[in-house]
Order: sequence, then structure tokens, then C-alpha cells
Amino acid sequence: MTQARPSPPPRGRRPPGPSGGRGAANAADFAVDPLGFLTRAARDHGDVVALTSGNVLLVHPDDVGRALVDRDRNLVKVRPGERRRGGTGFPLAMMNSEGEDWARKRRRLQPAFRSERLAGLRSHAHDAVARTVGSWAEGRTIDVHKEMSRLAMRIGAVHIAGRPLGGEADALADAVAAVMRLTSSPVRLPTWVPTPVNLSLRRAVRALDASLRRLIDGHRPDGGATALGRLVEERPRAPFPEIRDELATLLMSGYETTADALTWLVHCLGTAPEADGALAASARAAGADGYAAACAKEALRLYPPAWVISREAARPVEFGGYLLPAGTVIGLSQWVTQRDGRWFPEPDRFRPERWLDGAGPVHRYAYFPFGAGARGCLGASMALSEVEEVAIALRSQVRFEPVGPEDVRPRPALALQPVGVRARVFKEHPRGARWSR
Ligand code: HEM
Repeated sequence: MTQARPSPPPRGRRPPGPSGGRGAANAADFAVDPLGFLTRAARDHGDVVALTSGNVLLVHPDDVGRALVDRDRNLVKVRPGERRRGGTGFPLAMMNSEGEDWARKRRRLQPAFRSERLAGLRSHAHDAVARTVGSWAEGRTIDVHKEMSRLAMRIGAVHIAGRPLGGEADALADAVAAVMRLTSSPVRLPTWVPTPVNLSLRRAVRALDASLRRLIDGHRPDGGATALGRLVEERPRAPFPEIRDELATLLMSGYETTADALTWLVHCLGTAPEADGALAASARAAGADGYAAACAKEALRLYPPAWVISREAARPVEFGGYLLPAGTVIGLSQWVTQRDGRWFPEPDRFRPERWLDGAGPVHRYAYFPFGAGARGCLGASMALSEVEEVAIALRSQVRFEPVGPEDVRPRPALALQPVGVRARVFKEHPRGARWSR
């Protein structure tokens, strides 16, 4: 990628792109290998790339900031009247709302994600890790994603709903797996077409509905401390389907993304022994030097669970000198921008040191794993604290030895899932324990 931003071409001309930015070929290439396609598109065509006639990728952090923060009034996340349910979406949730409706729902949830609640989250994460580590036999090979998913499910449910999930956990995991299968499939038919993937999704969403109903009905009042508490207390003003949609999206978005981030972190540490050693030393001192937080940020840079997000132009908008017509879908890719050598020296290397002592990228919007602006991730502090605390708790108790790291690959579904991360676990002896009698 070029270092300097080229001077803007005259307004109105179409941005360049693969195959001239037109045609079904690009859509097919994207469907088969989205990460490779976006990376090549940026490398070969610059900072504003026409992917198809109605889709444009913005690569430069200036444009990321403009799209998510400055011009968010010209761009919408959810088109008016768009119903996202279609079997997968939950249309009444804040995440799928716009305008005043979105603002009201976001205000309602916000207090449950305040920083005062993070100390409780950390202590709960610690306990959850201790239980998990206790279940591992010395030297056993574990499926890291499976184990991290269980952890994330437990920690997330307590923070969001006030208690760990019982039987509901399977329904939630199944629904998430079905959504991931659907979104990673290169050929996506409308959800009413009875393909095996669509049918399994419909079944999973029905089962999830029943589980969520049990969770909502069984909620014990908590003074509105948790998100579920806040939603239930509003009843009957908030109708049941609204509570259900909100709870479903919170549990689902908090679960898969965080499990993916934790798994990627274990993978990255397996490829960087020095960083792993530094984390172990830091973990023995309860992470006071911020190294675990730096590891969490660096893993989210290299393997961002949200690897692409999009907006739609509600009216004509200008980016990089090009005037994009209303209706253009604008893509921003964390995968592409966060691996750009202009903003991150040695972009493909896992180097937590780049985040130490408050340091960060040279450009504010070169790093946006949680989005930015008014619609930035509601659970960002929760997720960061959780990943950091789990890293500290895990690494103070165990050492991971990667098994077949060369086979690991990302699967870009709705989240960037790690495939094939396995490790042998060895318990760490507390310092000096070996010598004590
Ligand atoms: C590592 C974990 C996570 C990542 C990488 C992540 C990423 C993101 C991103 C990129 C967005 C913005 C999407 C856009 O602008 O189109 C977002 C929005 C959101 N996230 Fe997260 N997220 C994570 C964890 C969580 C957790 C733990 C929760 C809650 C329990 C959560 C709840 C939400 C909600 C409700 C929104 C929608 C906000 C709105 O529309 O106003 N996320 N997330």
C-alpha cells in the first residue's frame, strides 16, 4: 500500500476497483475469499475502492473516522423499513434500530455497561477461569475455541442476565453456530429457501426463543444492575418481543466475538514466545503493568472479530474526492485497515509492546475493533476487561503449547472465527512452589 494519500481526483468520477468496480465476478470473489479479496482490492486500487456498482470500500483511517463519527447523519446502519429478522435478525433490538428509537434503547441499556460494574466482571472472570483450568488434565490437548466459548458464555451471561445459563446455554450456542454457518457460506439464499443451513437456523432460533422466555420469566429483580434487569423493570412498557430481541442480541454479540478474541489471543501467544513469557511474568504480578491489556488490544488488531462493517449512504456523500450516490453501501474493514503498514510498523507481527504506556496507532481511526462514534460497541469496555482478565487468570495458572499452529485459519463469518486452534495445557507452578516442602 502506498504511504502518502494521493491527491483527490476530481469529484464525481467513479472510484477505481477490481474489474473496473463492476460485475458479478467481484461479488463471487468476495464470497469465496472475502479477506483476500478486500486485501487485494486495497493493495491494488488505493483508499477508496469500488467493489461492485453499489459497494465501496473505504480504507483510509481519515475516511473511517468521517464515516463513523463526522458524517454519521448522512450514513445509516439500518435502512428505514428494513426488517432484519428474516430468521436471523432481531429487529426490535437496539443494534437493529435507527434514529430516536435507537437512541432511547441505547440510553436504556447504557447503565448496565458502566465501568463501575467491571470490577465484578473481573472477579467473576477469575472464578470462571479457575473452574475451567480445574477441569483440564495435565498435558491434555484442548480445542481452544470450544473452551473459550464456554468461558465467554458463562462470564457474559452473568454480566448481562445476572446468572450463568443452564439449559439455555446450548440453545444460545446452537443459534450462534447456525448464524455463523449461514454467514460463512459462500452461497447465501434468502432465509425462506429451505436449504439445510436455513432450516437448521430456523430450528435454532425457535429453540432460542423458548430459552429466552424461560430466562426472562425466571429473572430475579436486581435493581436494574444488569441489562436484563433494566429491560424487565420497564415491563410492561417494553413488550416481551422487544426484551427478547434485545437479550438475544446482547448475549449473542457478547459471546461469539469475545470467545473468538480469546482464542485468537491464545493462538497469537503460541506464535510469539517472547510475548508469552512477558505475559506470564505480568500475570504473576496480577497484570499490574498493563501487558495483558496490550496483548488483548494487539490480538484484536490482528484478528478483529468484527472484520468488516458497513453503512448505507442516505444521501450523496463525498469520500476521498469521489461523490458516492445515495444508496451506496460503504464498507469499512478492520482486517484491512488494522494490517496496513502505514499505521502499524511490521503489521503482520504480534507485538503487544506497540500498545504499552498509552501508546497506540499513529492515526486514531486506524484501529477500530469496536467501531467508533455514537454506534460504537456498547460492550467494548466489558469485552476488553474480560479478555484482559481471562488472559491474566489463565496465564498465571497454565502454559499453552500450540498443537499444529500452521493449520490455523480464520473463517470470516458474521465474526472472524478461528478454526483449528489447539493447545496442550501444562499447569504453572506458583513461583517457588517447586522448592517448598
Ligand atoms: C471482542 C468483542 C467484541 C467486538 C470485537 C465487538 C465489536 C463491535 C463493533 C465493531 C460494533 C459496531 C458495529 C457497527 O458500527 O456497525 C459493535 C456494536 C455493538 N456491540 Fe459489540 N463487540 C464485542 C463485544 C460486545 C459485547 C460483550 C457486547 C454486549 C454484551 C456487545 C454489544 C454490542 C452492541 C449492543 C452493539 C450495537 C451498538 C449500537 O448499535 O448502538 N459487543 N460491536
